[in-house]
Amino acid sequence: MPNPIDTTEWQSLAEHAGAMEAVHLRELFADDPQRAEHLCLNLAGLRVDFSKNRVTADTLSRLTALARAMAIPERIQAMFAGEPINSTENRPVLHVALRDPCGDAAAVATVQQQMATFAKSIRSGARSGHTGEPIRNVINIGIGGSDLGPAMATQALRPFCDRALTVRFVSNVDASDLVEAVRDLEPASTLFIVASKTFTTDETLTNAASARAWITDSLGEAAVADHFAAVSANPERTGAFGIRPENVFEFWDWVGGRYSLCSAIGLPLMVAVGPDHFGAMLQGFNAVDRHFRDTELERNVPALLGLLRIWYGNFLGATTHAVLPYDQYLARFPAYLQQLEMESNGKRTRMDGEAVDYETGAIVWGEPGTNGQHSFYQLLHQGTRLVPADFIAFARSQNPQGEHHDKLFANVVAQGEALAFGRTTDEALAEGIPAELAAHRTFDGNRPSTTIVAEELSPHVLGSLIALYEHSVFVQGAVWGINSFDQWGVELGKSLARTILPELQSGAAAESHDTSTNTLIDWYRANRRGATE
Ligand code: F6P
Repeated sequence: MPNPIDTTEWQSLAEHAGAMEAVHLRELFADDPQRAEHLCLNLAGLRVDFSKNRVTADTLSRLTALARAMAIPERIQAMFAGEPINSTENRPVLHVALRDPCGDAAAVATVQQQMATFAKSIRSGARSGHTGEPIRNVINIGIGGSDLGPAMATQALRPFCDRALTVRFVSNVDASDLVEAVRDLEPASTLFIVASKTFTTDETLTNAASARAWITDSLGEAAVADHFAAVSANPERTGAFGIRPENVFEFWDWVGGRYSLCSAIGLPLMVAVGPDHFGAMLQGFNAVDRHFRDTELERNVPALLGLLRIWYGNFLGATTHAVLPYDQYLARFPAYLQQLEMESNGKRTRMDGEAVDYETGAIVWGEPGTNGQHSFYQLLHQGTRLVPADFIAFARSQNPQGEHHDKLFANVVAQGEALAFGRTTDEALAEGIPAELAAHRTFDGNRPSTTIVAEELSPHVLGSLIALYEHSVFVQGAVWGINSFDQWGVELGKSLARTILPELQSGAAAESHDTSTNTLIDWYRANRRGATE
């Protein structure tokens, strides 16, 4: 695989970026009255409007040329064919098989059936705990990919959830997370799902041990089997924890944690929304998968979304990307995307082992609109940095109420318009703004955004939306020549924490670290609970 910056396609984009710096979105719209139509694509219930991006047809053809030079079409086929494209772990990357109804992975269908049986048994009230009381509360204990996907999606699909059930998520090793989650619950009607691919993750095992104590303190040791299930690729360890084999849901090393929502990691979501809605979500994922696999780059929506990130990050100097859902149920979507994008593409070593000499993964962030408008949008509109944004909005609210939804949609449309077109000083003066304030009240515009809309936030649309971002992440990583499917960068901090823990608990002053770290350890030892009493 070539170094992307050595390709003529990269050089051509660099030259083109120089010319495009001076081109304003106002001009681009004025030059092409059909621009919105030309740059809007539909797929799987989503309408993706790329027109407010700082691109011309020429830009897009240079970007797709770069993608071809970096063998993106071949990389896509290699992923779907199950080739071991996760090269540092020598594994295939087959999350797409989890939502392929025509797939040949019999194990996928078996586990989905097992999940459906389990979910239905809880939803119907048939599954009881150790005392015979029905299970009404389900708490997922997991972190990272074993938490963010199902937690985000359960919140996103709240209107489709059985409100008689309580489904919560505990991830942080901070005990407050677990304590608050169980505070108002009865152990007799509570079941924990311990979700960990490896079943070695310290935060999850610590929370699981405390949850186990919460159950056994009240119901006795024999209750564990009735109050715990597990989702894991490590059945030996789940057995050692005391979980019955029939309550262990398997997933496989070819499913990356941050790509695992469609696997058994989605079990708490399936409990909350039921197998039918979960199935509809899988169909949304699958529709985008097929589009991504079968569509030429020029009309391939996830590919274009990814290539635009390359354009802004590598050629126009953007370092962050805002994702701004105008739907309260998508409040956790930016947090979910942070793992998906930053754990996948926050890499500085190419697959060939060489250090990159170009920027890779952007910092992804965001908040639901309209809240963000009263917080950080000032910087988006008038700050000095280029921050491309994705707006996500729906035509219909799940909670129609007076003018609320019209106002919400008016705001998302207004923000994209204001960012793109701004307000010139002349326009400000013409509106009667005093001359001494005109500069402060001028908006230079030319700030790019993509607007993704759908009729409503249904399970199908949620699946489409997530798959859209998953594949855009793939395209970016493939252009950069990095492996988007490992995460070695999380290891060092984990191993240092294991070294530091006994030092915090020991009587001796810390000496083995730098002076800052030693001092922090000693300060904690002097002030931790018990030390001063
Ligand atoms: O810390 C990183 C990570 O390995 C993520 O990639 C993963 O989603 C998370 O930890 C949880 O891992 P597990 O499911 O094995 O507990």
